[in-house]
Amino acid sequence: MPKITIIGAGAVGATAAQRIAEKELGDVVLTDIVEGLPQGKALDLVEAAPLFGYDSKILGTNDYKDIEGSDVVVITAGIARKPGMTREDLLKINTKIIREVSQNIAKYAPESIIITVTNPLDIMTYVTLKTTGFEPARVFGMSGVLDAGRFASFIAMELGCSVRDINAMVLGGHGDTMVPLPRFTTVSGVPITELVPEDTILRLVDRTVNGGAEIVNLLKTGSAFYAPSAAVTNMVEAVIKDTKRILPVCVYLDGEYGRKDIYLGVPVKLGRRGVEEIIELKLTDDEKKALDRSAEAVKAGIASFTELY
Ligand code: APR
Repeated sequence: MPKITIIGAGAVGATAAQRIAEKELGDVVLTDIVEGLPQGKALDLVEAAPLFGYDSKILGTNDYKDIEGSDVVVITAGIARKPGMTREDLLKINTKIIREVSQNIAKYAPESIIITVTNPLDIMTYVTLKTTGFEPARVFGMSGVLDAGRFASFIAMELGCSVRDINAMVLGGHGDTMVPLPRFTTVSGVPITELVPEDTILRLVDRTVNGGAEIVNLLKTGSAFYAPSAAVTNMVEAVIKDTKRILPVCVYLDGEYGRKDIYLGVPVKLGRRGVEEIIELKLTDDEKKALDRSAEAVKAGIASFTELY
């Protein structure tokens, strides 16, 4: 069985552990800084195994030694923004956490592929890369799969059709400047630009961009975790099963899309070696402009991280 480690046994991490175990993608190690938390959630999942009939082993631990030999490591450790906290404060705290986590991954699981989930996503994935020193193909972030999933769900609701027939594409940073691409979003191969009026598309795009905030506003405490953990599971599956799926992923760009030394969401081929190919779409001027705006926002975030360290 492959070994999949999840660092951070909070809402996203524990739900990802559950989904990965239920799909039997591998044995799961769940870790956290809080003592007892990963052990308790892992034991609960172990006790669910006979009821759902999965054979994945699940270990909860506070000891990084247990992640040795991991094929894939998912990072969900971090804190969420609390009232009164600035973006800068959050960046500082999560950068420190990601650096500590990444150092331990480099030490104990140097051959692993890392999927970063902690926000602000594009910057935290950059921190993961720079701290581990891994090659960029083995360090990438989960954003576009979630954003595209949200876009697809809104389109299905609007059209009253099955979500299975929808293929959505969202590029850019994971935040206000993300770039949903209606031209590359299809229902059974038909672009939605041919199926839905423009003002409706704009409304669905806007809802997608604010998808995370919509959930936060409803929950009041905490943020989304069912869809984020489902997106993580899809990406882990593509890697472990070497499916070569083409998915929007937050990846390191070295000249692609005219950008260097930055993480940004673009379509890639995911397989056992991680990011096996970056696919460059031919964008219109408006799409290019939107992606550039997103890249500038991520660049500014990375610059502030460089100042901090
Ligand atoms: N090492 C390991 N785990 C840590 C560390 C650390 N240094 N610091 C914090 N954690 C753990 C916390 O103890 C907590 O259990 O990370 C977990 C985070 O879980 P939640 O607070 O429930 O957050 P969650 O909703 O799971 O989101 C995690 O994913 O989608 C993003 O924006 C989200 O950045 C956030 C991350």
